[in-house]
Amino acid sequence: MCGIVGYTGSREAYPVILKGLKRLEYRGYDSSGVALINNGLKVYKKKGKVAELEESVIGKDLHAHVGIGHTRWATHGEPSDRNAHPHVSNSGQLAMIHNGIIENYVPIKNDLLKKGYTFSSDTDTEVLLNFIEDIKKNNNCTLEEALRIALKRIVGAYCILLVAADDPETIIAARKGSPLVIGIGKGEHFLASDASPIIEYTKEVVYVNDYEIAIVRPDELILKNLGNEKQTPFITKLDMELAAIEKGGYDHFMIKEIHEQPDTIHDCLRGRLLAEHGQIVMSGIEDHLEALTQAQRIVIVACGTSWHAGLIAEYMIEELCRIPVEVEYASEFRYRNPIIHKGDVIIAISQSGETADTLVALEKAKEQGAFIFGVVNAVCSSIARISHAGAYTHAGPEIGVASTKAFTGQLAVLAMMALKIGYSKGTLSHERYLQLINELNAIPEKVKEILQDTSHIQAIATKYKDAHDFLFLGRGYNFPVALEGALKLKEISYIHAEGYPAAEMKHGPIALVDENLPVLFVATKDSYYEKIVSNVQEIKARKGKVIAVATSGDTVIPSMANDTIFVPDTDEVIAPLLSVIPLQLLSYYVGIAKGIDVDKPRNLAKSVTVE
Ligand code: M6R
Repeated sequence: MCGIVGYTGSREAYPVILKGLKRLEYRGYDSSGVALINNGLKVYKKKGKVAELEESVIGKDLHAHVGIGHTRWATHGEPSDRNAHPHVSNSGQLAMIHNGIIENYVPIKNDLLKKGYTFSSDTDTEVLLNFIEDIKKNNNCTLEEALRIALKRIVGAYCILLVAADDPETIIAARKGSPLVIGIGKGEHFLASDASPIIEYTKEVVYVNDYEIAIVRPDELILKNLGNEKQTPFITKLDMELAAIEKGGYDHFMIKEIHEQPDTIHDCLRGRLLAEHGQIVMSGIEDHLEALTQAQRIVIVACGTSWHAGLIAEYMIEELCRIPVEVEYASEFRYRNPIIHKGDVIIAISQSGETADTLVALEKAKEQGAFIFGVVNAVCSSIARISHAGAYTHAGPEIGVASTKAFTGQLAVLAMMALKIGYSKGTLSHERYLQLINELNAIPEKVKEILQDTSHIQAIATKYKDAHDFLFLGRGYNFPVALEGALKLKEISYIHAEGYPAAEMKHGPIALVDENLPVLFVATKDSYYEKIVSNVQEIKARKGKVIAVATSGDTVIPSMANDTIFVPDTDEVIAPLLSVIPLQLLSYYVGIAKGIDVDKPRNLAKSVTVE
């Protein structure tokens, strides 16, 4: 979703900002813009890609040492030049960019209209900016003070950067609910929505907290709370290399990230899964073992792909730990006044750690006394920080909009958690514990095996790329994998796809089956195998086209399917770590065959920071 970049220092600001905006393109956006300060404000903005903005400013005066830039994902008002950020205040003296939503902007706008203010966009951002200007004028106060007053009166989420024409050094920033990182250089500062625009300049960063205002100059970073009290900036060292956010020879981030999975899963297991000692070491769990083993109920809160990981965790935890689990869409959980009991544990799953619905759901659960355990990929993100304890997935930055390596990282963490809790609780025998540890340990090599030759999957993608609909079916641990396969295909091929438990198909979706409908079965050898064989027969009997993900060596499923993709055998508890890989590849190749920009499919944002 919206991306924010700012720079103040001795370099030319525009190239730093432009490069930063390009690094943030993966978040999803529909227009972009910059504001530079040098003898007044210069604002350039454009609907479309950052490259179009770049082209539109050729020949313009871009010289400045302070500036802010933005990629906008439309909320209030269509994608257009005039709705693009930065916005300029009525006096022409202030410019602002914003990520988030101001919920009470309508009454504020009405008041400002009565006072004679005019608006050149449909955005809530322009309203907030003029509100700040109005407060400054009426109170005859500093910009910082006016901002503080305004922020206390607005409802909503924001990360904003604000500059003034008469101050060619200072950026004022504030956040609540939307992320902001400040990179500390030598006589310069970099501001951004995440670390990717900053990493090539400095590894020292400060993550700004909610309700904090930052006054940023080349040699100075002042942090204050909304009560105007100074806060000590906490400097974190980024553990990330530039290569992690570049394509490294691949055509797309998505395929790079799919191929990284043997390494990312290995990194996730490293130091935690000690197969040679038959042990799992996870400090986030050990430090809170009582809360976790004594939990009366576990509620998993997440969105999208992370929610699918949650569904798989439900199967794992109920089977291995015998703790009842509920898996909730964060967006529903947060609004329906959920019942939280003392002794409930909430597991939050999120790649970005910034998903607004998940974050607010957690805030609510925390207020009611729940213990929050975060399974997060982005280090130091908001969800990681709000959690009482957690385990990072260590998949590295995921740039492709479609989540791939983060999902398998989540599964690896959740499997280790279930094993650790189950074994500590005594619901999992020593023998089974060791067996699953060894199976999990072998997963990275088995993923490598699937990725060795993907040409067969590419051929299947070419064969079915023109389908209008797709059905994905699975049972048990592979049911959420079917859901994930359908989501992936929708996201990057724009083909309508539905995922169902294979047996549920008889209760409605089977009406869709004819000779034109591809039905993908995730049908690996597990305790549901005989049942799913019958489900395949039912589809074949109605002339559906069956694509199957089956276990290497199986001959029954391939004899019925039109096309089969094999995956190595493993225990059913962790089978999704393997069975999802062909589905990721299939979606990728269908998307490519259809000429879709798979890394940035239409309408989608990588990090959904508005509800
Ligand atoms: O960053 P999160 O894991 O919290 O994001 C949740 C969803 O927005 C995300 O998984 C989304 O569904 C992906 N585009 C799936 O590929």
